[in-house]
Order: sequence, then C-alpha cells, then structure tokens
Amino acid sequence: SAQPVKVAVTGAAGQIGYSLLFRIASGALFGPDTPVQLRLLEITPALKALEGVVMELDDCAFPTLAGVEIGDDPNVIFDGANLALLVGARPRTKGMERGDLLSANGAIFTGQGKALNDHAADDIRIGVTGNPANTNALIAMSNAPDIPKERFSALTRLDHNRAISQLAAKLQVPVTEITKMTIWGNHSATQYPDLFHAEVSGKNAAEAVGDQDWLENTFIPTVAKRGAAIIEARGSSSAASAASATIDAARDWLNGSAKDDWVSMAVVSDGSYGVPEGLISSFPVTTKNGDWEIVQGLDIDDFSRGKIDASVAELAEERDAVKELGLIS
Ligand code: NAI
Repeated sequence: SAQPVKVAVTGAAGQIGYSLLFRIASGALFGPDTPVQLRLLEITPALKALEGVVMELDDCAFPTLAGVEIGDDPNVIFDGANLALLVGARPRTKGMERGDLLSANGAIFTGQGKALNDHAADDIRIGVTGNPANTNALIAMSNAPDIPKERFSALTRLDHNRAISQLAAKLQVPVTEITKMTIWGNHSATQYPDLFHAEVSGKNAAEAVGDQDWLENTFIPTVAKRGAAIIEARGSSSAASAASATIDAARDWLNGSAKDDWVSMAVVSDGSYGVPEGLISSFPVTTKNGDWEIVQGLDIDDFSRGKIDASVAELAEERDAVKELGLIS
C-alpha cells in the first residue's frame, strides 16, 4: 500500500485544530486511497488536551488515518513532513501592544521556520493560518533558507470564500456560479476583495452587481470585518470555516485549481502588480502539483490600485517592524 503522507499541524489542540484534524484524517486533502499520518505540535501545557483530541481521532476509526504523533518539539514533529499547516499562534491578549504580538509570534515562527528547514521532507509545502498570517509566513520563510520561498503561503482563502458567499447571496445565485474571485494584500481589515475581475456565470461581477455603493460600502467591509462579526455572534473566533478554508487552500495547492478559475493565496511577491518583491501578499493564483503562478495581465483601475496599495503598505510596515526586532534580515 502507499506510503502515508505526513501532515504536520501546529496549534492542534486549539479551536481550528478541533475541526481541521478530523477533516484531514477523513481524507479531505488526499482522497480515500492515500493514508495520512498526522504530526501534531502543541505547547507543553496543551499536550494533555491534545491527547484527548487524539483519543477522539482514534474513536473515529478513519480508514485513511495511518497514525498520529504528538509533541512539543518542532524538530521532532516536523521530521519528514510533506505538508505543514501552521495554525498555532499567540493570540493578542488584553494590554498587549502590536510590537509584543509581533515579537511573541516572531519567536514561534523563527523557531518553526528553522525546524522546517532542518527536518521537513524535500517536497514540503507550508501553509500559515495563525495570525498575523502573512507576516508569520514571512518570518518562517526568512528563517528557512534551504526551502524554496515558493513553498510558503499564508491563508486568505477564508476571505476568498467569504467574498464568494456574500456575492452569491447578493445576486441570489449558487456559489458555484462565481469564479475568479480575488483577495489582494494582507489577511487583515485592509484586505481588498476584488469584484472587478470576478465573474458570475462567466460575466463580470462588478457589472452584474451594478451598484458601486454596495460594492464599496457593504461588500468590502462585510468581507473584511467578517472575522469580528463572527466573534460578536459566536463569542469566539471563526474556527470551522477557518479549518475548511485551510483544507481548500492546501488541497487546491497540491491538486490544482479549477480550469478557467483561480484562487486567492498569499505568496511571496515577485513584484507583480507593484507589490514589492519579497512581501507575502495575497494574489490571484493558479495552482498545479504544489506550484503556483500569479495570474498576470489583469487591468487594475484607480479604485483597485488605491485599495491594493493601502493593504500592501500595511504589509511593508509589518515587515519593517519584524526586521527591527531582528526576526528577519
Ligand atoms: P486557539 O487559541 O483556539 O488555538 C491555538 C493553539 O495554538 C492553542 O492550542 C495554543 O496552545 C497553540 N499554540 C500556541 N503557540 C504554539 C506553538 N509555539 N506551537 C504550537 N502550538 C502553539 O486559536 P484558533 O481559534 O485555533 O486560531 C488559531 C490561529 O488562527 C489564530 O492565530 C487565529 O487568529 C488564526 N486565524 C486565522 C484565520 C485566517 O483566515 N488566516 C482565520 C481564523 C483564525
């Protein structure tokens, strides 16, 4: 039988982990014929809770689950990993300054970047969900000099899926009619969900909506602030949808995006669309066999230019801040 694919997940005892692990174990990433070994990283105080989650994984008797390793040492957990989903991060707590948050996460993602560099399999792909996702990915990438930069991505697929869902609801069409959605920039409130290149049943989405006021003052803020709206309603942050988007992103990266469509992924910029080289920014990308390509040649009007520039400026600020902290060179 096939060798198991080794999938490392960090923050495995957290909220997103509780949804994500069961999806991966049941075959959502690699299908019913590929066994998966889960390699789960947590901080020491959360290992007991993680043992409980592993008991539940056992109790599902998933045919595709070929074993589970848990631990608190990234050098051990990332050993031989083919895919690493970096979900665990230090949340912002009361009284914490932005700089404190960046340095707490900096410590996590420098260490994990080095451990991936030294121990992961040669075909490793790394997806960062933990916030601030783009900058955490930048820190991990910068601390893993032997891993090609294209192997790192940060999650904007949840924003992408939210944008599809909002547009489908507005036009009262199934989500399957919507293609070519793009999230540009940072996974933050400055992100730019772009309807000018999206299509509804093959026709331009902005034209189909025909309402610039809705686009600017309802659609964009609803998508960008959806995370806060979920916290307000649910009392805790989006977890099942974040796990689902983490699955969608990894699956499409490895298996390929659909024909005549693209996905949003935050990847290292090559300077496309005026995004400074080296920043991890969300772009429209097509994917195939674990590689991605930024979709080229889209016309960017003044409105979109302003929105993209604002989000990219925030990414540059975050990069400068972690540079100042010595987390990247
Ligand atoms: P959570 O707080 O429930 O779980 C996080 C887990 O990470 C905890 O169990 C914690 O012990 C663990 N952790 C902390 N430091 C770690 C380390 N150094 N190594 C391994 N594990 C570590 O949080 P939740 O809700 O699961 O969210 C996880 C992250 O995902 C957060 O940063 C959140 O902001 C982010 N997020 C990102 C989204 C996106 O679209 N990119 C969407 C939703 C959440």
